Amino acid sequence: MGLNYYQIKKNVRKARKLVIQGTTSAGSGHPGGSFSMAEIVGVILFKYLRHDPKNPQWEERDKLILSKGHAAPGLFSNLAVAGYFDESELLTLRKFGSKLQGHPDLKCPGVEFCGGSLGIGLSFSIGSAMAAKIDGKDTRIFTIMGDGETDEGQVWEAAMTGSKYKVDNLTAILDRNFIQQDSYTEKVMPLDEELVGDNLSEMWKDASRWKTGDKWRSFGWNVIEIDGHRIEQIDNAIKKATSTKGLPSIIIARTIKGKGVEHMEDNPQWHGKAADPDIAPIIDTELDCQFMIAPSIIAGDMSNLENEVKRCVHGRADYIHLDVMDGQFVPNKTFDYTKIKELRPLTVIPFDTHLMINDPGKQIKNYVDAGSDIITVHAEVCDESSFGEIHDYLKQNQVGVGLAINPDTDIPNWSYKFLPTLDQLIVMSVVPGKSGQKYIESTHEKMNQINSVLEQNNFQGYIEADGGVTLDNIGSCFHDGARIFVGGSAIIGQQDVRGVITEFRNTTLLARRKLLLKKANDLGGTELVKKWIDLHKIGEKKQQLMKIATEAGFL
Ligand code: DX5
Ligand code: ZN
Repeated sequence: MGLNYYQIKKNVRKARKLVIQGTTSAGSGHPGGSFSMAEIVGVILFKYLRHDPKNPQWEERDKLILSKGHAAPGLFSNLAVAGYFDESELLTLRKFGSKLQGHPDLKCPGVEFCGGSLGIGLSFSIGSAMAAKIDGKDTRIFTIMGDGETDEGQVWEAAMTGSKYKVDNLTAILDRNFIQQDSYTEKVMPLDEELVGDNLSEMWKDASRWKTGDKWRSFGWNVIEIDGHRIEQIDNAIKKATSTKGLPSIIIARTIKGKGVEHMEDNPQWHGKAADPDIAPIIDTELDCQFMIAPSIIAGDMSNLENEVKRCVHGRADYIHLDVMDGQFVPNKTFDYTKIKELRPLTVIPFDTHLMINDPGKQIKNYVDAGSDIITVHAEVCDESSFGEIHDYLKQNQVGVGLAINPDTDIPNWSYKFLPTLDQLIVMSVVPGKSGQKYIESTHEKMNQINSVLEQNNFQGYIEADGGVTLDNIGSCFHDGARIFVGGSAIIGQQDVRGVITEFRNTTLLARRKLLLKKANDLGGTELVKKWIDLHKIGEKKQQLMKIATEAGFL
């Protein structure tokens, strides 16, 4: 049984950290391509692959084939998180005698193919898929290819063969990060069209310039195009691909090389280079600083919540925050699970259901069945046993588990035992009951106390800031430790939802940059600050960092 959205996200975060630890300790390796495929590997390994880390040669297992073999650290790190071997083995990457070499080796449990000469993996995968069919097995093959490697003619021979023999038990994923070796695919050998200049984001955004899908369709493949860093889109695409019969499927996942580490993103330099040991700890903190924006739709037109959801989709929200109020736990009444069920088919964006209701245990099944991706209940109406039942029920049903505390509530002692497996803690910064209220300033102070309790109790989840979050205070909420930001009146209450969400992201990004510059300064003073800034070669990042560092007195 697969993991839920939040568990996959946490595992992928851990895997990225292991890639940095491994490549830095080896002094070489391929972090860029390991990061562009991180979410793809995570969804396959932690949700869809039928496998057994304790029995890697299990006869009935599905197979994950990494054709872009140089991204081995990205595979090894996820295999370690899945339990094939101890995570500390990543520190032996590329060392003599290690089973974790520069390219995958069958000595390593979980590895199905010695990828490395590019362009061969798809052929091997088609052979494996056809063999499974001949043996009457329902084995599924998942193959991850790089976009640069599809310059190899063999890939297209394999593509013809795949559709000729209708290998519908094969799902190929193209890690479309627009970079190969030391340059851009659209300069080296365009798959879409020639790239003028270095600004990749243009290629990313303008679907009218995308031609790669047409190439595969013309070879008789079922083609699905997605954002390769959105777990819900990868999940949905694999669901579609594995249920498509009569032809093979390819998921063209538009990704960012080096995703997760700002100075590596879209930077060909990080194709095959490791971070320096003095920089690695700052990157480790950066990987803990991924943040999400969750508009709260009750701040919009309550008579047309469908349209509010559509505005969130257009705004590229990370989550959609659904405030359920029963008129008892809070005076106000909004909607219940029947509305959530109606809204569910509108999008695959995760539904972040916030239950402000009495006796949530009685209703939890309804909110699971309605399609919530995470359900948060209030500590004020739970105790150890009632929350325990809710917690276990949600885990059994692949739904994230959240706990919320009101402004005058501390984290209750009975909840400490659940903190290691809790996916989300909502720290209310308004008295719940409606949107449009002012942020309670004392929440900042409260957050310091909460952070130490969370650290002592091995909390691995995300803190969600909910209530009165605006562009003015989101930076300090980020510094407090929140990583999910609910925006009702400040987002849905505004005209241009996409514009405001972009502003929320940019403002939080500035706060993150400041936090990382402080980390660099704490670890190595001005010299390390200068070194950190100098790494940011793509776009305007360097100038912005210089400005922040000067204002903060680090330069
Ligand atoms: C309040 C809700 C919040 C609220 C957020 O009880 O839990 O999610 O809708 O709206 P703003 O951001 O306007 O406070
Ligand atoms: Zn809420």
